[in-house]
Amino acid sequence: MAERPYVLLSCGMSIDGYLNAATDTRLLLSNDEDFDRVDAVRAGCDAILVGAATVRRDNPRLLVRSAARRAERVSRGWRPSPVKVTVTAGAELDPCAQFFTAGDTDKLVYCSSPAVENAEKLLGHAATLIDGGEPVDLSWMVADLHERGIRRLMVEGGGTMHTQFLTADLADELHLVVAPIFVGDSRARRFVSDGRFPWNPDRRATLAEVRQIGDVVLLRYALSARFGST
Ligand SMILES: NC(=O)c1ccc[n+]([C@@H]2O[C@H](COP(=O)([O-])OP(=O)(O)OC[C@H]3O[C@@H](n4cnc5c(N)ncnc54)[C@H](OP(=O)(O)O)[C@@H]3O)[C@@H](O)[C@H]2O)c1
Repeated sequence: MAERPYVLLSCGMSIDGYLNAATDTRLLLSNDEDFDRVDAVRAGCDAILVGAATVRRDNPRLLVRSAARRAERVSRGWRPSPVKVTVTAGAELDPCAQFFTAGDTDKLVYCSSPAVENAEKLLGHAATLIDGGEPVDLSWMVADLHERGIRRLMVEGGGTMHTQFLTADLADELHLVVAPIFVGDSRARRFVSDGRFPWNPDRRATLAEVRQIGDVVLLRYALSARFGST
């Protein structure tokens, strides 16, 4: 089996398991202290991945915010922020999105085969386009990331990405932050959708840590024998 990076999934959700509101308004699930914790986790990773829908909807920068952490990375000979990675089938992404424009770091777009040609025209100047099959095969993708030197990968959503990493048993660790709110609208995106998850009544995940961070709680799960190895 091909080697793959250590994969850490990170997300914030409401008490009723939603990642965002159903409306266009962005829902604040974290607090300042927790954003800083996430920043520290980012700073320790080689790459951060989000799905294309998150790039479109949230327009995230995906950079390390703390100047001290950026300086620490540079002192190790790394770029100030991790490589950015996204996955898309349709490649309907705006080259002006902050995913592409923010930060001095590599951007990788794993694209379904039929859209690669168009994606190259649209995004080729802003990112490295990689043909990932149809649909993009995540097992192959993580092996390819490993070949590109990525040893620690942080997956920051959305739900489609989390579902695929979990059901494919490609995750080593999960950071789940529960915010003290309800969304109560099933049109909103849940943390995961339906699927066959390797963790079930016969194979329970290991709860490695519970930490209160202001008004949110971090649940940290060990999902593989590699937990904590890097
Ligand atoms: N609370 C949090 O921590 C958090 C974090 C991140 C996101 N979010 C929220 O999550 C929501 C977005 O989640 P989502 O589940 O709708 O979308 P997502 O996981 O961000 O992205 C899904 C998209 O990724 C592409 N994709 C995924 N798997 C693929 C594969 N195997 N092959 C090819 N393309 C693939 C497709 O892109 P194309 O459509 O381009 O083909 C698909 O539509 C947003 O509301 C966002 O705000 C919340």
